[in-house]
Amino acid sequence: MASRTALKQLAARRTLAAWVPSRTAGFSTATKALNQYQQQPASNPSTATTQNANQGETHFGFKNVPENMKETLVKQVFANVASNYDLMNDAMSGGVHRLWKDHFIRTLAPTPGTKLLDVAGGTGDIAMRFLDYCRETHGDSSAQVTLLDINPHMLEVGKERFTQTQYHNTSQVSFMEGNAEDLKDIADNSMDAYTIAFGIRNVTHIDRALKEAYRVLKPGGRFMCLEFSRVENPVISKVYDVFSFDVIPVIGQVVANDRDSYQYLVESIRRFPPQKDFARMIKEAGFTVMGQGYEDLTFGVAAIHSGFKL
Ligand SMILES: C[S@@+](CC[C@H](N)C(=O)[O-])C[C@H]1O[C@@H](n2cnc3c(N)ncnc32)[C@H](O)[C@@H]1O
Repeated sequence: MASRTALKQLAARRTLAAWVPSRTAGFSTATKALNQYQQQPASNPSTATTQNANQGETHFGFKNVPENMKETLVKQVFANVASNYDLMNDAMSGGVHRLWKDHFIRTLAPTPGTKLLDVAGGTGDIAMRFLDYCRETHGDSSAQVTLLDINPHMLEVGKERFTQTQYHNTSQVSFMEGNAEDLKDIADNSMDAYTIAFGIRNVTHIDRALKEAYRVLKPGGRFMCLEFSRVENPVISKVYDVFSFDVIPVIGQVVANDRDSYQYLVESIRRFPPQKDFARMIKEAGFTVMGQGYEDLTFGVAAIHSGFKL
């Protein structure tokens, strides 16, 4: 059993450099570093599993990679998908992601003047819905959102989208390049709400991101996360697996000419902790959680987690 796991891990390491290939020049540094890494002896492969990465390693989809490389690899994935991101979201989910995001903002139910930090905000789906909700529900134009993302390509698409709206060139929206793990440009106790949608599973150290969320929120502020999660129903889970692994990468290939990035996206979903474990991590970061701390959407395909800084 142990040797099978070791073999799998070694195979995963070998295929990674091939997988992370030369889609763009940005990959060359990552590939070089991976090659060097592969030439080092494997660290105790008999105890390593894809569920439990070795010390100094983390997962990137189903592969184990050195911790310090994940950020570069994730950045490259989102640089690849940025221009087709919105189209692909609709193609992959049949538009259901829109309903989840609408529900997410209704659950947040921001009041007039709310200051929101939307982390991993990407092309602006959450930021836009937040401002629309404040305007349509309260007639409010004093709410403000800072859209923060590690990837300048995703931010560019987001900025471009906002130029088509009434929020363009107002103080209601601002954009910031930054890492969820280190929100160094955001002051302590400065935000009423913190959202992160389909972003946290890409973060290398989720615990650090949660600590930062806690730090920047005002006392009474709310943390909310929308993320793909675990389907418990065995029948639905089977159908979902087939859709994820057999259909989504093909849609990625056909619509965006990029199978690999979408293969990573579906793998990363399976590596994200299940609902209860993630709720525990949110509590460990200091948040107060109501009830079980999360709400399943579409049989648990996605879930909304929530916590308050009290
Ligand atoms: C799947 S997209 C989600 C975008 C948007 N929130 C949405 O719901 O459509 C994930 C985003 O997370 C960003 N991201 C990944 N790792 C990050 C990190 N450590 N800090 C900030 N953003 C990150 C990516 O650049 C990408 O824009």
